[in-house]
Amino acid sequence: MKENTKLLHGYQVLDEHTGAASIPIYQTSTFHNKQLYSDSQQYLYTRFSNPTIDALEDGFRTLENAKYAISFSSGMAAISNVIMLLKTKDHLIVPREVYGGTCQFVTKILYRYQIDVSFVDMADLNEVRNAIRSNTKMIYLETPSNPLLKVTDIRGLVAIAKEHNLITVADNTFMTTLAQEPLELGVDIVVESVTKFINGHSDVVAGLVATNNEFYYNELKLFQKNFGGILGVEDAWLIMRGMKTMGIRMAHAVSNAQAMAEYLQAHPKIKKVYYPGLKSHPNHAIHQSQAKNGGAVLSFELATKEELLDFTSKVRIPILAVSLGGVESILSHPATMSHACLSPEERAEQGVVDGLLRLSCGIENIEDLIDDFEQALGN
Ligand SMILES: Cc1ncc(COP(=O)(O)O)c(C=O)c1O
Repeated sequence: MKENTKLLHGYQVLDEHTGAASIPIYQTSTFHNKQLYSDSQQYLYTRFSNPTIDALEDGFRTLENAKYAISFSSGMAAISNVIMLLKTKDHLIVPREVYGGTCQFVTKILYRYQIDVSFVDMADLNEVRNAIRSNTKMIYLETPSNPLLKVTDIRGLVAIAKEHNLITVADNTFMTTLAQEPLELGVDIVVESVTKFINGHSDVVAGLVATNNEFYYNELKLFQKNFGGILGVEDAWLIMRGMKTMGIRMAHAVSNAQAMAEYLQAHPKIKKVYYPGLKSHPNHAIHQSQAKNGGAVLSFELATKEELLDFTSKVRIPILAVSLGGVESILSHPATMSHACLSPEERAEQGVVDGLLRLSCGIENIEDLIDDFEQALGN
């Protein structure tokens, strides 16, 4: 089955009891026991399992081409549960530009469990090699990175991890499995913020973990049940509805992003464009070798803070907000939003300057997006 057919028919999409074309929301916390001392009771309590959540996780397995998938109450719940696979005295390697929430989790919480963390530039595999210690257990990657769309060579990183017997985890939120398949490239565990492209409508916060490894799956099911970061059933239903159109949404958003990157690259007021779908991107070839397209997210730089404020006050179509992956285009200002917790020096070191904006392309008509940017840039 090809991707759009799969997203409509490749998993449990009908209610088996009634034939309803939409899986019902089983709005219940508990289930009547038909008989005591019986092993045949499938559902006991919604924190353990629920038919709406089971249908969604069946969908996630299909989407991710994975043996196992687990839903979580947010991307961060998925990420923190996976990182908790580590034990006291273990060492973790993460990208310097890792998503802000993950950064806070590993710097503000993980040290309490005496788990060490090293930050490296994952576009440079030598830095990864040099960071490995005798107690390193996990390498966590995000490619392309946020907000500068730096690319990590997934195959190269997996090869290093295998040499040292390390667990690899990929945050695939930006690309989604429709465009980049880390499990296929040898990564052990994929995490994604479902809040973004998978749900796609900026109305749900959720996360997922996908893996082909039974041991990690069983551990993570135990964590999900006992840390309790489960997804609500209404949110699960909304995600199932959103997922059906994910293929066509992503195709349109990616085509908009490629066109916007090319338009912005040619614009005299734009200092720099960061987008792995552009030939001028320093790791365009590596990205092309591991992903089907450049994705729907790009960043660009205006020369000064004044130009930034002028542009953001005039632009009409994209909303100015934290987040990405909605049907509507979303402009974010990393210096005051996702990277506000860094000091100005740390931001400068990473290249997150005041004039930088990130654009998550939605599914508007490209002519309207370009016209809007044209008037806001005041050509
Ligand atoms: C790359 C990435 N990973 C993880 C997250 C966290 O996801 P959530 O907000 O669903 O917890 C985000 C949120 O913006 C993100 O951009």
